[in-house]
Amino acid sequence: MKPLAEQAPAIHDGAPAGEGARVDSHLAEGETRTLAQDALVGLTRPQKELPPKHFYDARGAALFDRICELPEYYPTRTERSILEERAAELARLTGAVELVELGSGTASKTRVLLDALHHAGTLRRYVPVDVTEALVHECARELPREYSGLRVHGVVGDFERHLDRIPPPEGRRLVVFLGGTIGNFAPSARRRLLARLTRLLSPGDWLLIGADLVKDPHVLEHAYNDSEGVTAEFNRNLLHVLNRELAADFRPADFEHVAFFDRRREWIEMRLRARRAHTVNVGALGMRVRFALGEEIRTEISAKFTRTRLERELAAAALRPARWLSDARELFALTLSQPA
Ligand code: SAH
Ligand code: TRP
Repeated sequence: MKPLAEQAPAIHDGAPAGEGARVDSHLAEGETRTLAQDALVGLTRPQKELPPKHFYDARGAALFDRICELPEYYPTRTERSILEERAAELARLTGAVELVELGSGTASKTRVLLDALHHAGTLRRYVPVDVTEALVHECARELPREYSGLRVHGVVGDFERHLDRIPPPEGRRLVVFLGGTIGNFAPSARRRLLARLTRLLSPGDWLLIGADLVKDPHVLEHAYNDSEGVTAEFNRNLLHVLNRELAADFRPADFEHVAFFDRRREWIEMRLRARRAHTVNVGALGMRVRFALGEEIRTEISAKFTRTRLERELAAAALRPARWLSDARELFALTLSQPA
């Protein structure tokens, strides 16, 4: 396998997007190889582990959409209500000419911000960045029609590797990172990512981050153990991805969805636990992976924040907090900051 640095990304400029839209893709070849690399490293560890970005193929994205609608999953709904309440103020304060969004997905909540910025009359360009190719194309197709005069420059890529492919700024920039996705990184990766986000900003630009807050562990655990089993299916989708992309023979039904709140580290941890001792073949890697009964693969963490901790982490990334926007019950928060 080639080292990561040698993986030249394939760029397909101006894919079939319409008027006012363009999409650059940096995945193609490279992405299958990161999955292979991640599987090779992650499945041979004593504590097996896979990074969460591989959840989001088309099926994973559709399952995530359903998670956002679940009665137990309060973050989406809460973040949306905070945005609805404060979007006009954010538009006025930032005067953003362009909106850059990491992990944009369907940009459903983003439309609340786009509405306000469009109404304020400053917005010219939207730059969605996501690994899910189909969703970036969807944004590029739909948004220029919904907002007259808005150009969309989509970037299909991994925001841990491709932030340098974000087009140069065209004016006052607002970078947004919603949905609590910041919590899906381990502390060290999060520190790196925040520092890189700062580098997307010029003096006077803005960064808006949505973060889930520490709260009653029962509320947290319910949000990741819904009664319909959608989250379980989303978690097991990783195994479907491995089967398809790496010719593996996982039987998803052999794995149980596990999600619990780690009270010491203040994060939700998601795992897949083997229901029986068995061996899985990963064809593309010529690798056999043994699972003991009850052995687990860690598939995701979702860190929960306090204001103090988040603001300390922002400061460490040379960011100065400007606004803290939360709901009355303090379930979720959006923090707006600027380069210090
Ligand atoms: N912003 C949306 C979606 C959040 S889900 C919301 O708030 O509801 C996380 C999104 O980030 C998904 O769309 C997923 O495809 C994307 N994503 C996850 N890891 C990524 C990575 N490393 N690089 C780029 N996109 C990533
Ligand atoms: N950013 C979301 C969160 O941490 C992602 C998410 C929600 C998720 N539910 C999930 C990831 C279930 C994996 C499994 O809440």
